[in-house]
Amino acid sequence: MKLENKIALVTGANKGIGEECVKQLLAEGAIVYGLCRSGCSHQHPNYTCLMADVRDFEQMQAAFGRVLNTHGQIDILINNAGLGYFSYCEDLSLDQWQQLFDTNVNGVFYGCKLALPSMKKQGRGHIINISSIAGLEGYQQVSAYCATKFAVRGFSDALYKEVRDFGVKVTCIYPGSVKTDFFRHSENIKAHDNMLMPEDVAAQILFVLKTPDNFHNVNVEIRPLKPRG
Ligand SMILES: NC(=O)c1ccc[n+]([C@@H]2O[C@H](COP(=O)([O-])OP(=O)(O)OC[C@H]3O[C@@H](n4cnc5c(N)ncnc54)[C@H](OP(=O)(O)O)[C@@H]3O)[C@@H](O)[C@H]2O)c1
Repeated sequence: MKLENKIALVTGANKGIGEECVKQLLAEGAIVYGLCRSGCSHQHPNYTCLMADVRDFEQMQAAFGRVLNTHGQIDILINNAGLGYFSYCEDLSLDQWQQLFDTNVNGVFYGCKLALPSMKKQGRGHIINISSIAGLEGYQQVSAYCATKFAVRGFSDALYKEVRDFGVKVTCIYPGSVKTDFFRHSENIKAHDNMLMPEDVAAQILFVLKTPDNFHNVNVEIRPLKPRG
């Protein structure tokens, strides 16, 4: 898909991978809406920040409604917003478990549910769901986060089969560790330079978005190799 003038919506747009996706989409000429629940620093004529918490369906509905009322379509949805809590199972609070599922799973479902009618109607669209390598294999003290990312993987795999005949693509992305603010709740893991960089993940996402209409990437696993030169 050519990205120029395409209508793109990115959740969790104010930092990390989401922030980089916004920057790279704008550089390609897309019209970008960022969903943020806190402030947003992007300044660009083609960028609009919409305040929404992905856990709240009504806020999501209002944000998607604004884009659809303005443009009548959403070409690209990047379900990026997410968070991680890391601890032994018995130490994880009920509230943390709930927050993880509300954000990482419900938020993805709400986004897809709200974007798909217009995508199916126009016979084109691309949904990117950000899972993790924690959606491919389990890690100790990461059980709840893994559960949410396995859920995103299962949901995405079923969804791509459901919508491909309508010309809609669903791609699930599985990044290894990325140097972002994501590990702020972890006592053991601190972001470092051997990790992937958020711009690397964003570049892969844009690569996938640019594929022609006759094929799609279903799953993309991205692992760090060595520090950038
Ligand atoms: N970093 C990694 O190692 C890594 C690896 C694999 C997958 N991922 C996944 O990649 C995605 C992006 O993570 P990141 O590394 O860029 O982390 P990050 O720097 O912490 O950014 C997360 C983004 O999600 C937003 N967000 C969280 N909860 C939200 C909510 N309820 N409503 C709206 N926005 C919300 C955050 O907004 P606030 O600023 O308001 O909190 C922030 O913009 C996540 O889905 C994460 O699980 C990350």
